[in-house]
Amino acid sequence: MTVCRRSVRNATHGAMHRATHRAIMRVVGTTISCALLAACADRAPATAEGTGTTAGAPIDPSRVAAHFPDGWRLPAGARATFAAQAMAVSNSPEASAAAAEILKAGGNAVDAAVALGFALAVAWPEAGNIGGGGYTVVHMADGRTAAIDYREVAPLAATRNMYVDANGKVTDRSIEGHLASGVPGAVAGLTALLAKFGTLPLARVMQPAIALARDGFVIDTALAGSMERATAMVTRNSQGTPYFPNGTALAAGARLTQPDLARTLQAIADRGADAFYTGWIADSLVAEQRRGGGIITRADLKAYTPAWREAIRTTYRGHTLLAMPPSSSGGVTMTEALNIIEQTPATPAYGSTRWFHLVGSAYQRAFIDRNVKIGDPAFVTVPLAQLTSKSYAKALAATIEDTRAAATKALEPAMAQAAREPEHTTHYSVVDAQGNAVATTTTLNNSWGSGVWVRGAGFMLNDEMDDFAVQPGTPNMFGLVQGEQNAIQPGKRMLSAMSPTIVLDSAGQVLLVVGAAGGPTIITGTSQVILNVIDHRMTLADAMRAPRVHHQALPDSLTYEDGGIAPAVLDSLRTMGYGLRKQRSLVNINAIMRVKGGWEGQPEPRRSGAAVGY
Ligand code: GLY
Repeated sequence: MTVCRRSVRNATHGAMHRATHRAIMRVVGTTISCALLAACADRAPATAEGTGTTAGAPIDPSRVAAHFPDGWRLPAGARATFAAQAMAVSNSPEASAAAAEILKAGGNAVDAAVALGFALAVAWPEAGNIGGGGYTVVHMADGRTAAIDYREVAPLAATRNMYVDANGKVTDRSIEGHLASGVPGAVAGLTALLAKFGTLPLARVMQPAIALARDGFVIDTALAGSMERATAMVTRNSQGTPYFPNGTALAAGARLTQPDLARTLQAIADRGADAFYTGWIADSLVAEQRRGGGIITRADLKAYTPAWREAIRTTYRGHTLLAMPPSSSGGVTMTEALNIIEQTPATPAYGSTRWFHLVGSAYQRAFIDRNVKIGDPAFVTVPLAQLTSKSYAKALAATIEDTRAAATKALEPAMAQAAREPEHTTHYSVVDAQGNAVATTTTLNNSWGSGVWVRGAGFMLNDEMDDFAVQPGTPNMFGLVQGEQNAIQPGKRMLSAMSPTIVLDSAGQVLLVVGAAGGPTIITGTSQVILNVIDHRMTLADAMRAPRVHHQALPDSLTYEDGGIAPAVLDSLRTMGYGLRKQRSLVNINAIMRVKGGWEGQPEPRRSGAAVGY
């Protein structure tokens, strides 16, 4: 059985559209109806968001009813999408359907995840990509676990101060335009992943993506809104894209075909990653770089290699977490925060002052370390053992006072300022009938990356250079201030917050596959879904709908979702000394959870997406 959903666009991004049509897709004999639900509005009733419920799905009796504050816009008690055997969840219905097609054709979760990754490059071009990079954590049913790092690297001609002008001021060239891009890693990463753990040929798993690019698909309100918001930025940097014919974004209901991208994907399908890194696609990329003053060369592309890494293996209250190690800060920071929280034996009730104080204090301390101690392990020493150790967490937990928030500056006077990272990335989760699981987070950094589209090859390039500390110790125009560990060096990977994570239950079976988009909120959001499932025994639907909070040390405040903390609790937190920052919504998460008889999949209820399974 397959159920698909499409929900509201993240309302913080402003555009308000009311869906007017229903997209029908056929996937290997199964009709998937994607209702484009009326809802895209800041103040749209939460009930309009669509839930992807499946009649007859088993209800897990071990889960406990959740209670959210009055007026919270995502009510408790919804049901996630159920599938008995296999499931894929992403921000794009077309990409999730591509994964389901491969699963049904006999592929395993890795085959399906790679299919999904390439399909996202077509159907979710704001963040799905071949011009960016990402991270994947894999857990195979036979016990093998792996992590692959295909983060972009700084070009060989990159220099420490390349984004600082003659007056010592940080420019915006790390964010937009040709100079903003790191050397893309996605094609190398996805093909290496498939070669090691997949079962189907690359050409087969790429077939749905090629068809989507060649034959096109109908743009929905989510993608139309994303394009509309990106119009000025992309058209300033790129001409001739299929997204903005005559300089105007395609509207919902229009068909988007991407013939150049189809040709590029076909070449990769035929020749593997070499086609991208050494063939005519590389020529197109380098020519595009030259056109706009970028510095990526053929030598950069030829030298790119993904890195297989040992996943961080940690525990939380009897569960095992498999998480992404550096060059992402995600797994380390999440581990440190969860270890601190674990020091409190009886978890405070969800939504209580004590709960927010505990998680806020844990995140604050973990981010103090994150912002100054982590960088690319090929270039700097990362104190991994210390940051992930239970004894270190115990010492940090002891600094949490019962009734008072600590000032970040008092906790660590020498620390760097916190990073406010760009917020557009995308995560997908896939499981199969054997119990293999894949968690992948991928990004162009900002939505639509650098705004640069590679002419002739048809894909967007990232602006990942901005994830470096472009001038260590000094805020850049986005408030990004990080330490020396993350300074620019040629060939170095910029620090990330991406946190693809797989949680195993006490029997060693996959329980949860989860990860997120949202810069530093990736870490806090992903870990809160884990906490909601393990500590609060919520269903997946509730765990994903529960209001979220975020603390990243500096700014020294607890960010919360509007309506997500009860007024009395807000008053208590204020009295304890918390600075409180309200935001419409936090984090874009896509997750799968094992339930009795199968799997539940839940795309982000605050954004768009689909859980597709059978
Ligand atoms: N570009 C966002 C991240 O890697 O954390």
